[in-house]
Amino acid sequence: MSVVSSRRLAPGPTGYPLMGVFPMARRDPLRFFMDCAHRYGDVVTMRLGVRRIYLLRHPDHVRHVLHDNTRAYVKSPTTTRVRALFGDSLTVVDGERWRQRRQRVLPAFQPSQHAHFASVISRATIDMLERWQSLAERGEPVELVSEMRRLTQAIIIRACFGEVPRLELEAVGEALDVAVAHVEERLWNPLAWVKLPTPGGARCRHALAAVEGFVSRRVNEARRSAPPPHTMLGAILGASTGADSLTAAQLNDELKALLVAGHTTTASALAWTWYALSEHHDARDRLEEECRAVLHGRAPGIEDVSGLRYTRRVIDEVLRLYPPTWLTARMPLQDDILSGYSIPSGALVLLSPYLTHRHPVVWDDPEHFDPDRFMPARAATRPAFAYIPFGGGPRRCIGSSFAIFEMQMIIATVAQRYRLDLLPGPPILPIAGLTLRPGPAVRTRLHQTSA
Ligand code: HEM
Repeated sequence: MSVVSSRRLAPGPTGYPLMGVFPMARRDPLRFFMDCAHRYGDVVTMRLGVRRIYLLRHPDHVRHVLHDNTRAYVKSPTTTRVRALFGDSLTVVDGERWRQRRQRVLPAFQPSQHAHFASVISRATIDMLERWQSLAERGEPVELVSEMRRLTQAIIIRACFGEVPRLELEAVGEALDVAVAHVEERLWNPLAWVKLPTPGGARCRHALAAVEGFVSRRVNEARRSAPPPHTMLGAILGASTGADSLTAAQLNDELKALLVAGHTTTASALAWTWYALSEHHDARDRLEEECRAVLHGRAPGIEDVSGLRYTRRVIDEVLRLYPPTWLTARMPLQDDILSGYSIPSGALVLLSPYLTHRHPVVWDDPEHFDPDRFMPARAATRPAFAYIPFGGGPRRCIGSSFAIFEMQMIIATVAQRYRLDLLPGPPILPIAGLTLRPGPAVRTRLHQTSA
């Protein structure tokens, strides 16, 4: 990263008095930020309401913020709009508190857990396919955004807590949907900080209370008696001892955050994968061929995922074009300079994997879907921070391995049974909410590929 001594204000759109660029950004944040990057370059500044923001996209700048200067760029003041979902969890805290939390939560993601999680994934996917069977027989469409959400909710709830009765599972899933939708609706609402009683707000509070009630009942039971074996909760409790252990309130926050972070992202990525495969038949044929060759019709286990190499490349390319975490933020604690532009302390710095994954200095024909970009020889030529679907540096996603093998297993299981073809309808466009998902819906017809 070249740090030069001159300090200039970065270029960027002027916007309106008081509101700055808020009205334009709110209308279509993804397109607005893309336009800004095209027009003004790698460091763009603008006022979003009263706050000055800096939009960065160059891999060197991403590395500077996420890897080389992590102590100077903090997260917590930038996360107020999602606090209802993430509480005081590792996802939002900083400094020594973050370091301790990360150590306490890491045991949940040890490779020794993977085989148990794989059987949870397998079972939930097979349950879903049984439900799909009757839809396929009746020729009814399947809407994949909601189906993938339902599936990944079942998986993360059982991975965290073990066996949960079906009705309770569905009730927690529905409550998560209500809470996430409400927080998402307010992300770009200029009045979100005004605490007015609204029906939506009441529904969200009710839903959050249901999720929190479920989590705290499970946590209390686990602390009172034996922790549920082979679960994230069990692993965290089993590894913590004495004064270092998390309190019940801290555990509740961590598990609630895992429920949210562990399904919204993966569900969006899976919905995009089915969309991409239905648009790119050559890739779909290769993926189906690989699944047949590796699995011969049986459900994949954890030992199979390393052989599903093309499936992995399809996932990598989907995460490049449609990174579920399309935007993340940091706040510099001191003045900084990037490529000669000053970044004042206290500003809001936005990093967008969506923009970085299309940076013309790194990616040829960036809008083109080409899973073979991730062939090892081609991937090795790219700077590490050019590809950041899971972030980077010490705060890189703690669930990235889980997410990858979960998606490989789901895709391979479904692709051996069905081919999913998009039904005619309104064009599918990226919706930039809490995650980047395809919208308004991904309606497909199921075609059986095997008995
Ligand atoms: C395709 C799926 C996923 C994507 C794209 C994704 C993306 C990300 C990104 C970009 C970050 C870093 C954010 C930042 O630096 O501001 C992150 C952090 C995090 N993710 Fe994921 N994630 C995924 C799946 C998961 C899963 C399955 C879990 C848990 C089961 C999870 C739990 C977390 C947590 C707890 C953090 C905070 C880590 C920390 O700050 O130390 N994620 N994720």
